[in-house]
Amino acid sequence: IRSIVSRPDGGAGLAGQRVRVGGWVKTGREQGKGSFAFLEVNDGSCPANLQVIVDAAVADLAQLVQTGTSVSVEGLLKNPPEGTKQRVELRVEKVIDVGTVDPAKYPIPKTKLTLEFLRDRIHFRPRTNTISAVARIRNALAFATHTFFQEHGFLYVHTPIVTTSDCEGAGEMFQVTTLINEAERVEKELIKNPDPPSDKAEGIPRKDGKIDYGQDFFGRQAFLTVSGQLQVETYACAVSNVYTFGPTFRAENSHTCRHLAEFWMVEPEIAFADLKDDMNCAEAYVKFMCHWLLDKCLDDMEFMAKNYDKTCIDRLRMVASTPFERISYTEAVELLLVAVKKEGKKFEKAVEWGIDLASEHERYLTEVKFQKPVIVYNYPKGIKAFYMRVNDDLNTVAAMDVLVPKVGELIGGSQREERIDIIKDRILEMGLPLEPYEWYLDLRRFGTVKHCGFGLGFERMILFATGMDNIRDVIPFPRYPGRADL
Ligand code: 4AD
Ligand code: MG
Repeated sequence: IRSIVSRPDGGAGLAGQRVRVGGWVKTGREQGKGSFAFLEVNDGSCPANLQVIVDAAVADLAQLVQTGTSVSVEGLLKNPPEGTKQRVELRVEKVIDVGTVDPAKYPIPKTKLTLEFLRDRIHFRPRTNTISAVARIRNALAFATHTFFQEHGFLYVHTPIVTTSDCEGAGEMFQVTTLINEAERVEKELIKNPDPPSDKAEGIPRKDGKIDYGQDFFGRQAFLTVSGQLQVETYACAVSNVYTFGPTFRAENSHTCRHLAEFWMVEPEIAFADLKDDMNCAEAYVKFMCHWLLDKCLDDMEFMAKNYDKTCIDRLRMVASTPFERISYTEAVELLLVAVKKEGKKFEKAVEWGIDLASEHERYLTEVKFQKPVIVYNYPKGIKAFYMRVNDDLNTVAAMDVLVPKVGELIGGSQREERIDIIKDRILEMGLPLEPYEWYLDLRRFGTVKHCGFGLGFERMILFATGMDNIRDVIPFPRYPGRADL
């Protein structure tokens, strides 16, 4: 349907052509005392519908007009009479297939539905105009991501989902265990292990009668990854510029509109490069994605502007063309203090040097103070991960966050600590064990290289682009505390 209705002439020039289309009826009505029906059909390829006209001689119209019905039809494209909105319509000659809907039971009626209502019907969400537009924008941003990094010579590396390393050292990992039939578990647990050791009481008996404490499949405890960074660094330290793009998992108990337990992250890692190169890459990448959407997804962006956030297209244009502000963490704190003392701005979390900036602070900087993206760099080392390079002042690390209007933190990155002694001290200082990171330390022991990278929260980018308010509506199958449907 996109190839018909999204043409500059709205499809008018295709009149006379015979086509076959398949789609779902958005709305339908019988006309002329039931002698024919008008259907608005959408196949998810674009926001616009194709008007389809069916004669009572070729189909049971009462069935066809129900919202949600699937139709596969063949016919001739025609120019509708003067004065109608459409530039082209399809006169059906043959109905190939119909998938009917009982309107009394269909959970997605044609009335406007709230996004919350749709979250409870996750398998039907993609049939709505909104969720399908978001899906196309998401798809376009994924394509833009690969295009940007491929065109700049980055190698796409697939990092593992199951890992034994905690990249952020924050202990927010989901543990991986094996599944055993519950009835068998209870039975065998009683027979084979009447007295499970108390600290391992969660252990599960396996078919061979041994107890599975969730460790022995891999021979050690394994987790879902919080970031592919550490693994992708092994490639950056061997084949130079690389990126990974995949699902990541965080067991943080966040109930905000900007956190998911499963989200996708784009993580480039640049060899022979420092923090400034990192910021330049991040800025160029975000700008590239904005241009891409304006170029390739304008119809979906117009839908979002009309229905959700009338400023979303202007925001893309602004970000695509405006240099990002760059300020140090210390300057950011000073600006926030000025806002509190001189402008009477009230923040829930008190501002002082050393705090982790909260979303309210980030949004003040990017939405009120600068009204454009802001890169904050050189954060206090106490609030940042062990792998970030310690600056000469010994108090800050070469970290950077990209903050954007609407979202706050979109990107987190840093120059990596390449000096073996300093990084070892940092791991110990943060109370982490050295052993699991020995392989990572080897990258510094042998042929160490100055390098840097960042992670872009893919769903945050979609929030920023579309103007949607809740991150749960921009990922097909959202996972968050209390919820994992399908
Ligand atoms: O700032 P973060 O935690 O950085 C890292 O994970 C680094 N290892 C990345 C790197 O340098 N390669 O996460 C990066 C980004 C954040 O800026 C945010 O956009 C997103 O990931 N993010 C989340 N998005 C959705 N739900 C969550 N729970 C998120 N946590 C982080
Ligand atoms: Mg961060």
